[in-house]
Amino acid sequence: MERSKTLAALFIHTLVLVSPLLVMATDPDPLQDFCVADLNGVPSVNGYPCKPPSSAGDEFLFSSRATMGGDPTSNPNGSNVTELDVTHWPGVNTLGMSMNRVDFAPGGTNPPHIHPRATEVGLVTRGERHHRQPRIREPFNIGKEEASMVVSFNSQNPGIVFVPLTMFGSSPPIPTPVLVKALRVDAQVVDLIKSKFTGGY
Ligand SMILES: *[C@@H]1O[C@H](CO)[C@@H](O)[C@H](O)[C@H]1NC(C)=O
Ligand SMILES: *[C@@H]1O[C@H](CO)[C@@H](O)[C@H](O)[C@H]1NC(C)=O
Repeated sequence: MERSKTLAALFIHTLVLVSPLLVMATDPDPLQDFCVADLNGVPSVNGYPCKPPSSAGDEFLFSSRATMGGDPTSNPNGSNVTELDVTHWPGVNTLGMSMNRVDFAPGGTNPPHIHPRATEVGLVTRGERHHRQPRIREPFNIGKEEASMVVSFNSQNPGIVFVPLTMFGSSPPIPTPVLVKALRVDAQVVDLIKSKFTGGY
């Protein structure tokens, strides 16, 4: 990608970051230098208990998994998220930040979603990507090649809520008559869409 496009993408995402429309959910400011997550402990609010500092090792590094990215072609969404939240990168515990890498096949999307605990900023590092909504995120690869982006969050554990799964695959389900009325389509259409989301995909 040319430098100008990359800068344009950065600018758009920076705008998204400062938009006053965003949900202002963030982790609290850290009160200590670091607190490597003991992932066997029970999280409280949005943080894990600390491992003893003396036993902290390479938890501040993340694996080459993230730099390589994942194969986006082998699932129905056409995207593959390499997560670097606290559960994959214990060193960020209590630091109020994390990252993801997302790879997109041509025409791939990370279906419309929100991050309930974070604001997100992202940089397209390869290819072209459509993105419009500041609140509900709907990245879509409009190019003919694979695309990648790196995003960061002001939370160690931003969470994700997928709109399609929430509407059509939740348990207990939203009753079909409710969706018929809300979406102004027939029950068969609702049931067809519901059948696509059994099992989370
Ligand atoms: C993501 O990519 C990895 C590595 O290529 C692969 O093992 C994994 O199955 C992919 N995940 C999905 C959901 O496609
Ligand atoms: C694909 O998208 C659905 C929501 O439409 C989501 O529930 C599912 O986890 C996603 N799968 C992958 C592999 O990202």
